[in-house]
Amino acid sequence: MSFPILQNDTFLRACRRQATEYTPMWMMRQAGRYLPEYKATRAQAGSFMGLATNVDFATEVTLQPLARYPLDAAILFSDILTVPDAMGLGLHFVEGEGPRFERTADDEASIGQLHVPDMDKLRYVFDAVTSIRHALQGRVPLIGFSGSPWTLACYMVEGGGSSDYRKVKSLMYARPDLMHQMLAINADTVAVYLNAQIDAGAQAVMVFDSWGGVLADSHFRAFSLQYTARVLAQLKRTGPDGQDVPRIVFTKGGALWLQDMGQLDCEVLGLDWTANLQAARSLVGGAPGTPGKALQGNLDPNVLFASEAVIEQEVQRVLDDFGQPHTDASCVGPTHIFNLGHGISQFTPPEHVAGFVDAVHRLSRQMRGK
Ligand code: CP3
Repeated sequence: MSFPILQNDTFLRACRRQATEYTPMWMMRQAGRYLPEYKATRAQAGSFMGLATNVDFATEVTLQPLARYPLDAAILFSDILTVPDAMGLGLHFVEGEGPRFERTADDEASIGQLHVPDMDKLRYVFDAVTSIRHALQGRVPLIGFSGSPWTLACYMVEGGGSSDYRKVKSLMYARPDLMHQMLAINADTVAVYLNAQIDAGAQAVMVFDSWGGVLADSHFRAFSLQYTARVLAQLKRTGPDGQDVPRIVFTKGGALWLQDMGQLDCEVLGLDWTANLQAARSLVGGAPGTPGKALQGNLDPNVLFASEAVIEQEVQRVLDDFGQPHTDASCVGPTHIFNLGHGISQFTPPEHVAGFVDAVHRLSRQMRGK
């Protein structure tokens, strides 16, 4: 498969801990409801799944934020819940309520039926990846993604979102064997799914462990981290164009476990806004010339509701928090990829995002004296 030549590789270089002229940035959930053009396309598609399963619509909405803002990466428009859907749980989105599954996997019988699904059921995702990669015309790299085994399990047991994770935690404490059985299947599924995205043209992949942070300290390693590691161990290292494919792991609420996460076989760790970037850098960022993780994050998405002056001030704070990135082109060293600490809110004024992106690029160049 051949794709247009990449013009802006700043994001990929930062993932590899190579020096960059400015701090590259993208936003979690950058294609979404805060954009009026997204709402218009979604209305045309009729439903979220109508949007995600149609290659042309998925391509269109992936590119929408890039038409407005000079972002340094695109992220595939899809959802983490396509995976349990392909496992037969029947995903639908209830207006104003979020995702719901027709069936749950929460006892011996239903978990016993789970298996790694035929990837043909997710063909629409891989087709979208290839289509987006062409439509980008090499402007910026494309990120593929999946939910983590644990985060997927949360939705599969609860049957939707949850405020207390009562059902999934009850199962974990009552029948740890069943939880491990499901997590192993999820991990192997996520690995096959991400490898197919890589084959289809994804230039980096991200694992969203959105609910890892709800686990007790004693259980995070056994029920979340271990299975993320099982995914990473199975991932392809290069794409169809022979380029390395950086792997990003984001655990919401994961800052407490950074030292353990530093052991993961991945290039980048994503952090939410509760993390201190300086502390994270000294724990896992690695000195120049030594191995370590690139760090991605971590502006509180609610900062985007503030005035332009406050947004700029908070961007500077996050940049200062990370500190001076290394600038030595001859070796690897600590690097920062700017992002929000979690997904952008649907109520965010789009014009505030323009000032935000500009501030990250401008202030991070200034920091490097460029
Ligand atoms: O722009 C991008 O970041 C790419 C698209 C993307 C979506 N979901 C689109 C989406 C990505 C990367 C996701 C990941 C996702 N989905 C996560 C992990 C990231 C995180 O936020 O922690 C999770 C937990 C989900 C599950 C999910 N999908 C929920 C809880 C909801 C409903 C609530 C909400 O925030 O809207 C969705 C639906 C969804 N996924 C929407 C979008 C744009 C909104 C649906 C709509 O248009 O009505």
